Amino acid sequence: MKELIDRLRDRQTLTKEQWIQLIRGRTPELSAYVFEEARKIRHLHYGHEVYVRGLIEFTNYCKNDCYYCGIRKSNTRAKRYRLSRQEIIECCEMGYELGFRTFVLQGGEDGFFDDDKMAEIIQTIRAGFADCAITLSIGEKSYESYRRFYEAGANRYLLRHETYNADHYGKLHPPGLLAADRQQCLWDLKEIGYQVGTGFMVGSPYQTEENLAEDMLFLKKLNPQMVGIGPFIPHHDTAFAKEPAGSKELTLFMLGLIRLMLPKVLLPATTALGTIDTKGREEGILAGANVVMPNLSPTSVRKDYSLYDNKICTGDEAAECRMCLANRMKSIGYEVVTDRGDSLNV
Ligand code: 5AD
Ligand code: FES
Repeated sequence: MKELIDRLRDRQTLTKEQWIQLIRGRTPELSAYVFEEARKIRHLHYGHEVYVRGLIEFTNYCKNDCYYCGIRKSNTRAKRYRLSRQEIIECCEMGYELGFRTFVLQGGEDGFFDDDKMAEIIQTIRAGFADCAITLSIGEKSYESYRRFYEAGANRYLLRHETYNADHYGKLHPPGLLAADRQQCLWDLKEIGYQVGTGFMVGSPYQTEENLAEDMLFLKKLNPQMVGIGPFIPHHDTAFAKEPAGSKELTLFMLGLIRLMLPKVLLPATTALGTIDTKGREEGILAGANVVMPNLSPTSVRKDYSLYDNKICTGDEAAECRMCLANRMKSIGYEVVTDRGDSLNV
């Protein structure tokens, strides 16, 4: 099995069968070896720096009904909110002061924010924060919409493919949402010129090792600038309330493998990883991750952007997350930097 890890490190690729074998055959010893090799590669390209992205969760309205997600439209118990353009700008202003040079506008698929409104928000941020990257994470849109947002000044787009396999995708989403459509969005975004982030949940219901192998092959093919993965965590108001959460151990192993496969990719230690274990994000960094995405949303709405249960960072101090992460990273010998943090994976 160690040979497979060396092969992955040296050639940055494995066959589907090899991926399955490696994922199934993992042991604590092999994981430790993956993390060690992943860290070497991470240090080679990104040193001990950790990039930060300020996450602004600007709407939790959503027209979709993904079975795993706490803000799915049929969850009538979710308390819905939208930030005004002014509130979004204020988040950016505060974020800039705190040293953020990337703002991520994330939201449900909310028809209220039509293309005109989004373009206007993007233009306003672009005009006010010339040295910052603007990242969108607002779901599936048409090629034309994506192009319009890009021309308005957005640079990056996050859209997790969730799972590559169409059958598995169908078990996590209602009819009408298709894996192929989602993947097409990613190809569109790339073609337009966005720096693209994709990713998947680890341990989502019905997921097999074969599915994870397919996810790895898709990542290799897409070659995105960023890959966000985190454990599935059940939300009490969804059909998956009683499903077990994904494991920290498998999430960390997959993080390390992604670093070996895509050496220069941006790899966040996600909030979900920090939610299943208080030291999850630190362990993520030590497994090869190099990005953290603290919350910049107004504290009054943080607990309402509830995709899964027990989400961290709902504290009542706006600047808390930035400080908290700086300290956490320092405790393991890494340093949060004020930088756009562009991907070296071009
Ligand atoms: N557990 C973990 N991650 C989730 N996401 C949505 N719901 C959950 C959940 N219950 C992830 C999805 C989505 C991202 C914004 O959050 O992968 O793309
Ligand atoms: Fe948000 Fe620690 S990062 S409270």
